Amino acid sequence: MAATGSEKQGATAYYVSTPIYYVNDAPHLGHAYTTVAGDVLTRWHRQRGEKVWYLTGTDEHGQKIMRTAEANDVTPQAWCDKLVEEAWKPLWEHLNIANDDFIRTTEKRHTDRVQDFVQDLYDKGEIYKGGYEGPYCVGCEEYKLPGDLIDGEGEFAGQKLCPIHKKPVELLKEENYFFKLSEYGPKLLEFYAANPDFIQPESARNEVVNFVEQGLQDLSISRSTFDWGVPVPWDPKHVIYVWVDALLNYATAVGYGANQEKFDGTFPANVHLIGKDILRFHSVIWPAMLMAQGLPLPGKVVANGWLMVGGEKMSKSNLTGIKPQDLTSHFGVDAYRWYFLRAISYGSDGSFSWEDFSARYTSELANDYGNLASRVAAMVGKYFGGSLPEATAAGDAERAVQEGLAKAVATADAKIGEELDFQGGILAIFDFVKQVNGYITEQEPWKVAKDTTPEGQARLATILYTAAESLRGVAVLLNAVMPETSQKLWESLGAEESLGALADQKVQDAGAWGTLPAGATVTKGAVLFPRLEEKPA
Ligand code: MSP
Repeated sequence: MAATGSEKQGATAYYVSTPIYYVNDAPHLGHAYTTVAGDVLTRWHRQRGEKVWYLTGTDEHGQKIMRTAEANDVTPQAWCDKLVEEAWKPLWEHLNIANDDFIRTTEKRHTDRVQDFVQDLYDKGEIYKGGYEGPYCVGCEEYKLPGDLIDGEGEFAGQKLCPIHKKPVELLKEENYFFKLSEYGPKLLEFYAANPDFIQPESARNEVVNFVEQGLQDLSISRSTFDWGVPVPWDPKHVIYVWVDALLNYATAVGYGANQEKFDGTFPANVHLIGKDILRFHSVIWPAMLMAQGLPLPGKVVANGWLMVGGEKMSKSNLTGIKPQDLTSHFGVDAYRWYFLRAISYGSDGSFSWEDFSARYTSELANDYGNLASRVAAMVGKYFGGSLPEATAAGDAERAVQEGLAKAVATADAKIGEELDFQGGILAIFDFVKQVNGYITEQEPWKVAKDTTPEGQARLATILYTAAESLRGVAVLLNAVMPETSQKLWESLGAEESLGALADQKVQDAGAWGTLPAGATVTKGAVLFPRLEEKPA
């Protein structure tokens, strides 16, 4: 078999994807959570100097979208066009998401290739015609097994409900085409065993292994009771099942069957970021589809936990009423990007609370980080006329700070860049910020400044150089998470002028002590994290 995503080498891109989101409604905090995580991960790798490809997009076919469009009295295509242009793309732009491409499943570059892929499988004998009857959840766009369902209560008493959507399932009976998924169970188990990191976190991996060990059923891959989908090429009365259509975006968007060079240089994904609700599709069906075609398998499927509201997964029907834009207009885009990754351990569920966000903003961003940046710039201004002095009298205290930065770089690089432990990586950087604050408190540069002897001035210069050089490292390390703030800090340190663009600073070199040159023009830039206004009513 060809190399998997974890074995890709050479000129190939570090390829990360988000799920392609259903456009039945505008994006909410849950969708933004996965997309920001992917943006931080890819910015981190870009800042290592790697070639990166970050893909997001929208899933536009299927019954769910069709019904929403009908309810709004427009065609499904018109509905999708409006939502994509007016809600989805603008939010990603607003949140500073640096995706390299945005795929829509209604685009011809996608639909043509989906037909090719499915036709190929049909020609290889991987697809056959059969009948199926079973409970279907339109919210999940998935046939359920009777054992998956829960009993309804109240208005749904006596009915069987989808455990995720808590809505009654529909009994469907159809003549469909089937993919021989059941034959792939043993090969999948072998693959999971040989690639223990393929599914993360561990709990997700265990769930999938257990599921596959029970034995897989063949997968219905076409529908004939509605027509909003990609027609089955050899039998156009059927449309291709929306999940088969959707999963293929990861191949069609990078040139499958159209641009071999692009495809070879990008595919397969190193990391598919998903929510745990769509784990089986990505770790069972998708790899089996690729195996059937002889294509290489992805490096990792990493499931994030759910943002919860009132003990339930945040979804269209139980939103907090808080839109991402409500939070960014209060806290700012950078703080928004930082908060969810900082507060929730990636992979675990977590709840959003306005109070928790405010408290962390004030103590960690405004006080620890923002104040440090403004104090250091103010002192270089006051004592050295804004020209960064040279450090000539370094001692144990300075060496401890230098080591602290090197440690923060190594820890953050491993945690964010490799382990997708965003919380752990951010904490390592903020521990260093705390260390620098402690250093300044202990060294009391405002007292040293009163000592006008050459030794006193050399000491003062060393303290302020140490603090400013530390901030140079922090700006580089936080650039993936909070790019606007890092840029402001970078400019206030005079680093843009003396070292060039922040994006060109390699993260692995961020701990190289002495990078910021003496003589850099330090200015007191804009406040990084302004005091919060009153919470809106
Ligand atoms: N269209 C499919 C995915 C196809 S991928 C080939 C789909 N779309 S969705 O709009 O329902 O988005 C699902 C994804 O959005 C989740 O997997 C997750 O990444 C994100 N989230 C949606 N709600 C979420 C929470 N409440 N919490 C965390 N992530 C959430 O499924």
